[in-house]
Amino acid sequence: MSARLLEGRPAVVTGAAGGIGRGHVTHLAAAGAPVVINDINEAAAAALAEQVRASGGKALVSTHDIGTRAGAEALVQACIAEFGSIRIMVNNAGNLRDRTLLKMTDEELDSVLTVHVKGTFWCTQAAARAMVEQGSGGAVVNTTSGAHFGSFGQTAYAAAKGAIASMTYTWAMELARHGIRVNAIGPLGTTAMSKTYRDADGNPGQEFDPAMNGPALVYLCSDEASNVSGQVFGTGGQRLSHMVQPHYGKTLVKQDGWDIEAIRQHFQTHMPGEFGAFGILGQPYPFHGGVKAPGAQ
Ligand SMILES: NC(=O)c1ccc[n+]([C@@H]2O[C@H](COP(=O)([O-])OP(=O)(O)OC[C@H]3O[C@@H](n4cnc5c(N)ncnc54)[C@H](O)[C@@H]3O)[C@@H](O)[C@H]2O)c1
Repeated sequence: MSARLLEGRPAVVTGAAGGIGRGHVTHLAAAGAPVVINDINEAAAAALAEQVRASGGKALVSTHDIGTRAGAEALVQACIAEFGSIRIMVNNAGNLRDRTLLKMTDEELDSVLTVHVKGTFWCTQAAARAMVEQGSGGAVVNTTSGAHFGSFGQTAYAAAKGAIASMTYTWAMELARHGIRVNAIGPLGTTAMSKTYRDADGNPGQEFDPAMNGPALVYLCSDEASNVSGQVFGTGGQRLSHMVQPHYGKTLVKQDGWDIEAIRQHFQTHMPGEFGAFGILGQPYPFHGGVKAPGAQ
């Protein structure tokens, strides 16, 4: 199989100066894609662009803030102006403001939702409109996280990553008629962002080279994946997993509807057995013994 699956297909990667985005850029460029390296960290983006060019690739630096509509639209236009079109949009930029619900401020919530949710929306809308106008089709890859299953102390981040997964499913439906596929990855990598991560025992966890997400990204952007859309994959490290869409589990039907007594009986017999893996760490449902008010028996 050709190593240059993306020959001549211009790509934009947001938040690409370091961490996982940096690995995406080197793999896209090695697969033949001219790449726009977008990041608010200009020095690091410029150094990466030099590295790509030194390896024979094409790179453009963009310092647009994707947390604004104007920035996202200018980013897509910069790609088209430099490389003639846009065929690949990789929404990778992100930030963190970890705080439990009881302590969280509006500013913290807004900051995370703006970069992740609105940034992904603005960039994809601008890129998809251009792809439709080009008539070329294209590939969008968003970045979600297992945090959207529920992650202690990550109200904003979990909400943002859940929204990104839901937008991925929706856009895959809406854009298929234009030949545009939309998928997402939940990556793994030891990066500036992941340094606050702790596992169930409070340990930082295993280290992963963030560039190990790159091969799956390239594959998803290529025509090899023409039958793949609306899907989310866990990538990075040694794993490659399919993140299963949320869907209705076991469903009972009562023709007359459910009164409180019928609901009580179901909850006291079968329903708790349906409460499966819980939260980002996939632990067994922890509340079978009840969640009680302070001091309650
Ligand atoms: N590291 C992990 O294990 C992990 C796990 C799950 C998901 N993710 C996701 O992967 C993506 C990359 O994260 P990372 O771990 O490489 O973190 P990182 O902090 O190294 O990279 C994020 C980049 O986004 C840039 N950025 C932030 N706001 C921006 C803006 N408004 N406009 C343009 N660029 C902006 C930052 O400057 C930074 O370079 C994020 O979406 C993150 O949520 C990471």
